[in-house]
Formats: sequence, C-alpha cells, structure tokens
Amino acid sequence: MNAQQNELLTRSGPGTPCGALLRRYWQPVALVDEFDPAIDPRMKDRPVKAVRVMGQDLVLFREDSGRWGLVDRDCPHRGADLAYGRHEGDGLRCPFHGWKFDAAGRCLETPAEPVGSRLCERVRQRSYTLVERSGVLFAWLGEPGTEPPFPSYDCFAAPGTHTFAYKGMWQCNWLQAFEVGIDPAHTSFLHRYLQDASLESVGDNAAGRQFRSASLGEVEGQQWPMSRIMREFHKPEISFEAEPWGYCIMTLRPMTDELTHVRVTHEIFPQTFCIPLSPTLTITQWHVPVDDARTFWFAFFTSYGAAVDKDAMRNQRAPFIPPPLYIPKTGRHNDWGFNVEEQRTRTYLGMGEDDINVHDQWAVESMGAVQDRTREHLGTTDKVIMANRRQLLAAIEAVQSGGTAPFAADPSRAAEQVGGPDTCDGIAPAGAWSTWWREQARLRHQQAPWTGKSKRTVPA
Ligand code: FES
Ligand SMILES: [Fe+2]
Repeated sequence: MNAQQNELLTRSGPGTPCGALLRRYWQPVALVDEFDPAIDPRMKDRPVKAVRVMGQDLVLFREDSGRWGLVDRDCPHRGADLAYGRHEGDGLRCPFHGWKFDAAGRCLETPAEPVGSRLCERVRQRSYTLVERSGVLFAWLGEPGTEPPFPSYDCFAAPGTHTFAYKGMWQCNWLQAFEVGIDPAHTSFLHRYLQDASLESVGDNAAGRQFRSASLGEVEGQQWPMSRIMREFHKPEISFEAEPWGYCIMTLRPMTDELTHVRVTHEIFPQTFCIPLSPTLTITQWHVPVDDARTFWFAFFTSYGAAVDKDAMRNQRAPFIPPPLYIPKTGRHNDWGFNVEEQRTRTYLGMGEDDINVHDQWAVESMGAVQDRTREHLGTTDKVIMANRRQLLAAIEAVQSGGTAPFAADPSRAAEQVGGPDTCDGIAPAGAWSTWWREQARLRHQQAPWTGKSKRTVPA
C-alpha cells in the first residue's frame, strides 16, 4: 500500500474522500447509558454532552420531552461553545448572548435583539437525525434527507432484554482498530493462554474472557475451550465469501482426519465485525473515528439464549473502561500493564488474563496513531484485510465519482430484510463443516426466544 492510499483510507474529517464514504452509513455516536444519572450523575439536571465524531465537534442533548438533539457545537452567532449551554428543557441556550436552539436546530430566541427582530427566522444551527437502536444513538452525518433504511441485523432485531451495548476508546486510527477484527490468525497468538482455565470457572459470557469459553461440539466426548484449539492449531485456513453486508469469513483449523474447528465471523462494510463470543452470544462491533488518531468501538452483545443481565455486564466492564469517558485504564502511559513474568509463564502477550480487549488495544495502539502501511509485509492470513482495503478504495472512488456507496448505504440492498449475520465457533465433521455450521446457526436462530418476532427467513 502506498502512502497516498494510506492517507486516503485513514482520513475521515469533513471534506475527505473516506469521510464522505463513512458519512453514507449510520454512525453510532453515544450510548443511551451515558445519559443515565445512575451512571453519570451530571445527567440528572443537565443531559448535555459534547461528542466528537470523524473530526466534527457536536453537542448531544435530550429535551424534557425525551426528544434527542445532535447539533454543531459552535454557536451560529459568534461561535461560542454550546457544550457549555444552559439546558432549558425545551432547548439549549448559548451563555454568550442567550440565543436558544431546540433539538432540531431551530433558533427559538435571540434575546438581545430589538423587540420585533426576526433574526431568529434566518438562523438555523445544523442538526443531525438520530435514531436509537439497542441502547445506542446512531446519527446521520451525511447529506440531510439521503438516509438509507436502518440495517436489520440481529443485534437490532433482538429485543432490549437480549442486547447490551458498551463502548471504549482506542488511541489510534479507525482502520487499524477495525482490521484486528477481520484478522482470524491473531487469536492463536495474541490471545493465547499457556494454560486453559476450567470451563466451569468461565461461564458463558464472562467479560473479556471470550476465548475461555467452550467451542461448540466435542472431541472424543469432551468439550474444548476455544483457547486450547487456538493454541494447538495455529495455522488457520482462511476463506471468505461476499454477502449482502460485506464478507462472511470462514476459518478452519483441521484437528484430526475426522474433525475440523470452524469459526465463522463477518465483515460488515465499512467498519464493523460480527463474531461469536459463546454458543449463544455474539458481538457486533463498530469502529467510529473520533478523529484520525482516536476511535470509539461500540459493541453490541446479542443473546440467542437467556436474557442478558445488563447491570452485571456493565459492572464487569466499568472497572477496565470506566464511564463517563470510556477511556481504558491501561494504555501506552502504563505499558498496557505489560508483565514480563506473565509473558514467560502464563500468556503469550503478558497483558493480563481477565480482559482480552487490552490485547487487541495493545496490538492496534502500539502501531502508532496512524499505522504506516508502506512499511508492512502482508501474508496469506491477511487476505481479508487486503480484500477489505480494495473494497474500501473502490467504494471511496464510487462515492467521489457520484455513485452509490455499497451494502447498507445502498437503499436497494438495505431494504432487504438482512438478518444475522450468522456466526459459529465449533468442532465440525471435517468433510461437512460447511453444512454443519449453517445447521448450528439455523438451530440457534430458531431456538432464540425472540426470533419469532423477526421477519427474517432463515435459509435451510
Ligand atoms: S455566541 Fe452564542 S449567543 Fe452569541
Ligand atoms: Fe483480538
């Protein structure tokens, strides 16, 4: 990849070609939890929050009526910062000269102007459409009125009882943050435990301990933790197929003549992956540029089994990534918790056994704010990363020449009821892995307590 291409793919501010592409997709901008006074007491009397997305500074607030507003942060009068505005229930008032704006960006008052002034009618603060889905506020930052239908993936089709959302900031560019999620080889190394924990001690959805869970299926009547399979079979055979949302990524780890481990994950274009966490839980994770050197990941946990315990899931994560800033406690400033003794005796990396998010965080942050891709040497296992970059370059080019952005941004495609994507992590009969995993996914979907309400037809 040359320097010019690297620039093109990594810069997302207003006016950039990649920014223009990303602005064709709904972008998550905040958790609804961020406005919960039990989580952030400041929100009790003043539900106002500054947010930065793709280099744009915005203010997010909620009127007493419950209506959400997302507006540009600089006051249209003389540019003072509306994040310090007075929350008045039905709008936000700039403390400099008292101009007041509602959630739609309408100017309600310009109190210093002479009686009878109609200045208000000529002033409008730019506001952005918001929709709330599965505990997250998504914004439309593109051309007003060109919003495609909201995608219908399982993480949005599942009811609130079966989804949980969390976010965290990484100090690096969005693309490298995303690329770790479409790199199926790294799990055998970066997340390797030198010993396995007992499956009973892990449970189904222990935060940060994804690969400690059991893989679906058995070897000679025994369940295996994913961590053991990843460690013992570290030369994956990776393939991928085009799907209505991006790529289905199939990773095989042949175990015996009869058995192969199969892990099915997805790339949802342009910035999201979907992976299995346990037989009944998936993570669908967006990577949203804050600016070119920082990224917020927004993760949706979706249960196809029992209802999720949101408080428990939040309490598991908050000690590592505390609200209201959602900046991880470990990072470059403390060597991501690097422990030489642990690296020698317990884990491949040496950055803790309890929160594997730190492993990925190190991988993507240690490259530097924006990875210099002119210096890398890609291998066979990087094939999805390469395909995705080609896909991104083509989509940027299409948008630049006035065409349609692909997948969910294409109204004709997004209108299809696209469910799933279906994931799997299991031990399959070697010759029949492809039908085996689809059958497992079909059963999981069929048995989920909420899929009766979904319109999706599951392919047999
Ligand atoms: S700068 Fe906001 S009211 Fe004057
Ligand atoms: Fe990872």
